[in-house]
Amino acid sequence: MKSEFKKAFIFDLDGVIVDTAKYHFLAWKNLAESLDILFSEEENEQLKGVSRVKSLEKILKWGNKTISEEKFNNLMTKKNEEYLSYVDAMSKEDILPGVLETLNYLKENDYPIALGSASKNARRILNKVELYSYFEYIVDGNEVSKAKPDPEVFLKGCELLAVEPQHSIVFEDSQAGIQAANNAHMTSVGIGDESVLSEADFNFKSFSEISEDVLKTLINFKK
Ligand code: BG6
Ligand code: MG
Repeated sequence: MKSEFKKAFIFDLDGVIVDTAKYHFLAWKNLAESLDILFSEEENEQLKGVSRVKSLEKILKWGNKTISEEKFNNLMTKKNEEYLSYVDAMSKEDILPGVLETLNYLKENDYPIALGSASKNARRILNKVELYSYFEYIVDGNEVSKAKPDPEVFLKGCELLAVEPQHSIVFEDSQAGIQAANNAHMTSVGIGDESVLSEADFNFKSFSEISEDVLKTLINFKK
């Protein structure tokens, strides 16, 4: 049965719960440099929320490079190995400020919570930072075929949580993710730079700004 009354929450992972966006940037930057491709912070912004394959395609396009399928696959493996070397050094100390307080409030008040991430490493990261048990469902890069801004990842989350998208609230740090939430008619909450995430229904610099009163405002908001 679809719940008409209780709002549900879907969290992106990278850049929202943990600051892994900086590790993705480092690993992509090193890879781009090894191919003599210059890669700026602005370009990196366009990779947030974007799958591993699509990210490498974009980098190669910016650098005007064509490579064989074998090299492409080797580069993806190399990037992921470097990325995971950073991830494996993470612990619960790496949860971004305010995230735990929000998750605890939602848990204590029985709000359904899911994860909606493009990453294929989402479960590994949640385990590293000891947050796995907070999520009723995890929808990650292994379960979706269409990348954000397509809303597939969030719609799957809604289906599993048995809530209508318009009764769901998404926390996102990427343009593509905010667009995905908006495309699904969900309440979109941008975490990060407001100028980048201006399409969001709400904007906050970090979860430190999200008090219980703010959560109540989000819960009562009608799109
Ligand atoms: C997203 C990140 O959450 O996951 C992207 O914002 C990343 O930067 C994508 O490319 C895929 O992640 P992974 O861990 O499967 O390479
Ligand atoms: Mg993200």
